[in-house]
Amino acid sequence: MKSVKIKDKEFVLSIKSDEIEDAVENIAVKVNNDLNGKNPLFITILNGAFMFASDLLKKIEIPCEITFVKLSSYSGIASTQIVKKIIGLNVDITGRDIIIVEDIIDTGITMENMLKDLSEHNPSSIRIATFLFKPKAFTKDYKIDYIGMEIPNDFIVGYGLDYDGYGRNYKDIYKIKE
Ligand code: IMP
Ligand code: MG
Repeated sequence: MKSVKIKDKEFVLSIKSDEIEDAVENIAVKVNNDLNGKNPLFITILNGAFMFASDLLKKIEIPCEITFVKLSSYSGIASTQIVKKIIGLNVDITGRDIIIVEDIIDTGITMENMLKDLSEHNPSSIRIATFLFKPKAFTKDYKIDYIGMEIPNDFIVGYGLDYDGYGRNYKDIYKIKE
């Protein structure tokens, strides 16, 4: 099995790029259908979601706008439970249909922060599209509208996700070797 080494840790191939592509396609079909006739604003959470956002948005066929925010909560391989806002939102979201684009929902804290922040600015609707979801780590109870894949609680890298800043560029997803 193909593996990669990042700093002190070894990771083994877990989800190949063709499976990733299929999961992105499934989300795009649903979004195109659900938001048909609307003019949504996609808000991508940097850094991790850049690759998913790029692949997803190439498949979106309705008129839409795309913007970015930058949040940070992970240090090494664990969530710090504290979400830092590094770059905030600079567009008016009042009355807009929002789709938040995220790489992974783990404990759910980052997304909860986003939801609170956004709802204070009176958007017309908010939907969540996350490429990955770790149901066993999730501690919240909000609805996640679009999920690419559900995965176990292993730490992973690739397809935008990093270990200490590295590994975001891999087109496949690798999981940590115990
Ligand atoms: P949450 O706030 O615990 O849901 O964590 C969400 C953020 O933690 C994501 O946006 C990722 O950036 C990061 N994260 C969660 N799990 C992993 C992982 O397995 N590998 C790399 N980053 C992760
Ligand atoms: Mg992220």
